[in-house]
Amino acid sequence: MANTRGLEGVVAAETELSLVDGERGHLVFRGHWARELARSRSFEDVAHLLWTGRLPAPEEAAAWQAQMAAARTLPEHVYRVMDALPAGLDMMSVVRTAVSALGAAQDWPPSLADAIRFTAAVPTIIAYRHARNEGRSPVAPRPDLPHVANYLYMLTGRHPAPDHVRALEAYLVITMEHGMNASTFTARVVTSTQSDMASALSAAIGAMKGPLHGGAPAGVMDMLEQIGTPERAESWIRSALARGERLMGFGHRVYKTTDPRALALRDVVTELAGEDPWFSLATQVEDVAIRLLEEHKPGRRLYTNVEYWAAAVLRAVGIPKPLYTATFTASRTVGWTAHILEQAAHNRLIRPQSVYVGPMPAAPTTPEEA
Ligand code: CMC
Repeated sequence: MANTRGLEGVVAAETELSLVDGERGHLVFRGHWARELARSRSFEDVAHLLWTGRLPAPEEAAAWQAQMAAARTLPEHVYRVMDALPAGLDMMSVVRTAVSALGAAQDWPPSLADAIRFTAAVPTIIAYRHARNEGRSPVAPRPDLPHVANYLYMLTGRHPAPDHVRALEAYLVITMEHGMNASTFTARVVTSTQSDMASALSAAIGAMKGPLHGGAPAGVMDMLEQIGTPERAESWIRSALARGERLMGFGHRVYKTTDPRALALRDVVTELAGEDPWFSLATQVEDVAIRLLEEHKPGRRLYTNVEYWAAAVLRAVGIPKPLYTATFTASRTVGWTAHILEQAAHNRLIRPQSVYVGPMPAAPTTPEEA
């Protein structure tokens, strides 16, 4: 059922990219279960699937990985733009500015080469700025490493542990694409004006930054840190709800059951950090939160969303909290660019209408005012 406020239930596009079934908790990327892809496929493979419609054949994989790796180094001016930004600026603002500075190779129509370029660039942008924030020398990308291993390598300067790479890869794959979410819709609206890919992505990053969309995982972590021990969960959550606060990592516009991405990521964290007392805290807080949300908003069907367990994966692989939303952006750039290519291929200007509910002037007296 459509609801004008927030466009709930409004169909804004036809897409071959993903199916999000909020009642059944299903997520499909171009004919494949997203959970299965996250378990078994590389970042590069699933990017290829979303952009081209098929997984790369085994004999294509190495050349495809090399093609993506070749686009990791940024033009010199982008580093200079980042260096000119004030210290303390949040990472999403840095990524938005750097992506904008990167510009599009061509204005219209957007190309697969553009999609590769931006996707390969985002991890370099994050790692470069993170190193600068910490007063370290940035670590240059290593073209011989796959996409996800290279991201962790650039962040730390060390060769990453294989189980960390696998866990982060599962996260980056399962969050790549998700139907007509706010940032993807934004990217399609900008593209529909025949603007370029850098403009569409800068706008999408702006939408992603907000706490109701991509900004939630840091809020999840703040909540768990404040709760501290399982015994404090009930009283902490009751007071937060009584103050009218939203629990980060719960509720979803589309999912009226547990978000399948949350289930997948919970499995990832169980494998990686099942013995960690922090994992047990997250599990117990989740149970209490779902029970109290049902008590607080009966019948609203508020369950765990992807951001709750995303925060746990990111923590377990050592991503610092200020980089959580930017790391989500590194993944979703694939979905955005796939939607931009799809929008451009069947373009029509997106231009909805509004209903005027303000006062009317006095009755017109001349034909021009009528
Ligand atoms: N905690 C407490 N109450 C909630 C929550 C929550 N997390 N989520 C929804 N509600 C309540 C809300 O107050 C409203 O109550 P009422 O109708 O009495 O005013 C009711 O449930 C329905 O909420 P809504 O605002 O109509 O739902 P929405 O579809 O507009 O919002 C949401 C979806 C994700 C913005 C919301 O659930 C929320 O704010 N969650 C917390 C932030 C969060 O975790 N965001 C990440 C979303 S998943 C990542 C992504 O796909 O982008």
